[in-house]
Amino acid sequence: MEVHTTADESRAWVTVLRSSVELDRVQVRLSLRGAVFTLRDELGLEEIDLSDLEFWALPFEVREAALAKLRRERPVAHFDEPTWSFDENGTGYWAITKYHDIARVSREPQIFSSARGAVSIRDLPEEFLEFFGSMINTDDPRHGYLRRIVSRAFTPKRLTQLEDRIETIAQELVHGIPRGVPFDVVPTVAATLPLRVICEMMGVPRDRESYVLERSNIILGALDDEFVPVDRSPDEAIMMAAIELTALMEEIGSERVQRPRNDITSALVNASVDGEALTAAELASFFILLVVAGNETTRNAISLGIHALGQWSDEYQRWRQNQESLTETAVEEIIRWSSPVMFMRRTLTQRACVGDIEILEGEKVLLLYGSGNRDEEIFRDPYRFDVSRADNRHLGFGGFGPHYCLGAHLARRELASIFRALLRSVPHWSVVDEPAQLRSNFINGLKHLTVVVEE
Ligand code: HEM
Repeated sequence: MEVHTTADESRAWVTVLRSSVELDRVQVRLSLRGAVFTLRDELGLEEIDLSDLEFWALPFEVREAALAKLRRERPVAHFDEPTWSFDENGTGYWAITKYHDIARVSREPQIFSSARGAVSIRDLPEEFLEFFGSMINTDDPRHGYLRRIVSRAFTPKRLTQLEDRIETIAQELVHGIPRGVPFDVVPTVAATLPLRVICEMMGVPRDRESYVLERSNIILGALDDEFVPVDRSPDEAIMMAAIELTALMEEIGSERVQRPRNDITSALVNASVDGEALTAAELASFFILLVVAGNETTRNAISLGIHALGQWSDEYQRWRQNQESLTETAVEEIIRWSSPVMFMRRTLTQRACVGDIEILEGEKVLLLYGSGNRDEEIFRDPYRFDVSRADNRHLGFGGFGPHYCLGAHLARRELASIFRALLRSVPHWSVVDEPAQLRSNFINGLKHLTVVVEE
């Protein structure tokens, strides 16, 4: 069955199809003001395996149809430990796909802990703890202490002081875009803005930016052979990248102990928790968390946002004509649509029910933010990219618990700046090639996206 209609008719069709539970049995083709999004229902319930990396490499439309099926038919679904997690003792995890369940688990850290094991699917191996045992893998009170050390650098007030700098970088990048020839927007624009901003906030000199980028690509892209060749162990590559980033932190940090500046590394090396300075491992893992989280996520929100606006070019024109009124909602929609962080894990400290499923102490749950962000019970027309979407309390930055993204205000400002710069100086452009998807079950990312801007 194929539906091909105008925007309003399409919206009506989605509603009709959804309510008649036909959505999983038919192929729905939507034509919305020229853009096309096709939900392809190709996997039966038993064929869906979130632990298979190939699942995450499926076309977006197939993946989305499978997640919709989980939400409808098995909203809390058990999966075996992924084979690539190298954790022979792992007992698998429960994947949580509905919005309200994700938000509820996020808000009950006493039951759903971030500290037991880790927030990645596998528990952190001993040797990783030194580099990745950061606050994201802790619970209160330790989490609160650690977060307060850096939170001042990320408040809206502090970020207002950074705003001009973010605007300037964004404008320089857009100004450098070539006209009339294909170019890859990921390295030239999407990767550079967040990388430069977080490096400047941390006090990393400009000539070390690419050093940081290469290592952060390895840490979050270790299963993709563009970043780690197949004959190299991903774990070894991640460890090496972490050791090298730590060396950079030590180099910058030792100078900041003597002469503190107005950067986050100075705050870290001079911080005290209960009268004690942070340990070497705490410093290393803090630095790595901030530089990696600060650039990988926002980069993919920008790339996927550009991709979406290429597909939904009428939305780009609508935003262009109403920049003042639409920038805030458009930025939120880009984050909802892209959902760059696919999940975080929690581990039960006691037996509890999620939905109808009873989960035992010690078992793991995965919060699938991207799925929550398409929950039909929360978002009207969830597969429609709508720059004016109101009431968009998405889960892109987490489920509103104590670990809610520290960099959310920063990311929003970066997105607003880069898209405003694009809207101002690029009236027409198009995506001219299939985007290259990052091979990952954790980061929803694009490695390359070829675009041509009209002369
Ligand atoms: C569009 C961009 C971004 C997205 C989608 C994103 C997403 C997320 C998500 C889903 C979490 C986990 C929330 C939870 O467990 O409840 C998180 C945590 C975090 N994010 Fe972001 N993030 C983005 C940008 C940034 C930036 C620019 C920074 C800057 C350094 C940053 C730093 C962090 C940190 C430090 C945490 C851990 C917070 C904690 O454990 O208390 N993020 N982010």
